[in-house]
Amino acid sequence: MLPKECKISKVEDENQATKTIFVECKDKPQPGQFYMVWVPGVGQKPFSVAGVSPLRFSVCAVGEFSRKFASMKKGEKIWLFGPYGNFFEPQGKKIVAIGGGYGTGPMRYAARIAKKKGDEPIVVIGARSKDKLMKGETGVRTVFTTDDGSEGMKGNVVDALKKILQEEKIDEVYACGPEKMMGAVGKLCIEKKIKCQLLLERYMKCGFGMCGQCSIGEILVCFDGPVFDAKIVEHPEFGKFHRDCAGRKVLL
Ligand SMILES: Cc1cc2nc3c(=O)[nH]c(=O)nc-3n(C[C@H](O)[C@H](O)[C@H](O)COP(=O)(O)OP(=O)(O)OC[C@H]3O[C@@H](n4cnc5c(N)ncnc54)[C@H](O)[C@@H]3O)c2cc1C
Ligand code: FES
Repeated sequence: MLPKECKISKVEDENQATKTIFVECKDKPQPGQFYMVWVPGVGQKPFSVAGVSPLRFSVCAVGEFSRKFASMKKGEKIWLFGPYGNFFEPQGKKIVAIGGGYGTGPMRYAARIAKKKGDEPIVVIGARSKDKLMKGETGVRTVFTTDDGSEGMKGNVVDALKKILQEEKIDEVYACGPEKMMGAVGKLCIEKKIKCQLLLERYMKCGFGMCGQCSIGEILVCFDGPVFDAKIVEHPEFGKFHRDCAGRKVLL
């Protein structure tokens, strides 16, 4: 497959470390799908779709590739392989979509699509403090949480989910973020018998099932996912082990 050459059309600040990058590309991938983004001379990494028309990615600058990607300007070009992977399949009308860190991008997109279909999504966005929250427009009912209480509800996204579940009848939960957070969301939903789908963002190399880098035991996140039923949290490797950049299985 040849990559698509795409020009950056706009860059929006989300917070100090995170930008949303809009590109000129007519693709309309589904919420949950991802692209391998190639920046010549730097490398290629997977990024979840954070919206379409125009296609966009929310990029948190943490290492060499993401720092370069997040610093790119309008008019510069990137190359895209994909879209890859499965996507969220709505199974209810009242959906809570939970985003931690850069997982917020695909959750906002999933919620916007759900609203367009006539569903009633609530987005829950969490961060350690106000300056780390992803504050871009969601277009739907939104609950912010911060660990230190500097904005929104004091606590984490799991506390917010528990509160919502006490107050309202929820059909389904989506989540994307650190595995520890998704583990807690998944376990809570299994316990409460609420449908739940999790978007996993494991370290990937090939993105299409060849290298084994993204494995959780026998499961390949890029090929079998990246969206999984909450039951994935019961896998003995979930939230405990991952593979480092050399492919070694190490503690998470
Ligand atoms: C399916 C999928 C979708 C993804 N979608 C997105 C997305 O929408 N936006 C996005 O920004 N990234 C996303 N990622 C992560 C992205 O692919 C890169 O792994 C990430 O940008 C780090 O790459 P790097 O080369 O910059 O840093 P690396 O050199 O790989 O990592 C630098 C350091 O930062 C740590 N680190 C890596 N990621 C994080 C993090 N998120 N928070 C804190 N520390 C971290 C590493 O452990 C390492 O110590 C996704 C990953 C997958 C598998
Ligand atoms: S990233 Fe290579 S198998 Fe998933």
